[in-house]
Amino acid sequence: SPPVDDLRALIAPYLDMEGPLLPILHAVQAEYGHIPAPAIPVIAETLNLTRAEVHGVVSFYHDFRDAPAGRHVLKICRAEACQAVGGSALSQRALDRLGVDWHGTTADGSITVEPVYCLGLCACGPAVMVDERVHGRVDDTRLDAILQEVRA
Ligand code: FES
Repeated sequence: SPPVDDLRALIAPYLDMEGPLLPILHAVQAEYGHIPAPAIPVIAETLNLTRAEVHGVVSFYHDFRDAPAGRHVLKICRAEACQAVGGSALSQRALDRLGVDWHGTTADGSITVEPVYCLGLCACGPAVMVDERVHGRVDDTRLDAILQEVRA
């Protein structure tokens, strides 16, 4: 886990800002890929907040992870147009196949599954994004192919 001095140095540039907590959390996540547990008390102490307050913000905003992500991130669209064409069944199938819940990472560390609200492919849903690549009209067969490719 990151040395406290490194965390303090990372946090320092934000301390003069108004509402520094979110920018600090983004900076920590950009540096470490997640919010390491030891960062919470350092941030809390620096901003004069309780650990529970900082932890509450980390868990409220799903942009922040409390554990490193898998090697790939599968984002499944949960917005209306995709839901109307089978998006929720597809989501459930993906979660079942991978044995995770939303925001979870497979045991082999290969994939993290995140919900996303519109990928701009509303006319050809259900849509998913794997890393930076979007896929439209994802049915069960395509889903299986995508998962297989990613986990290979
Ligand atoms: Fe799913 Fe827009 S609603 S891509």
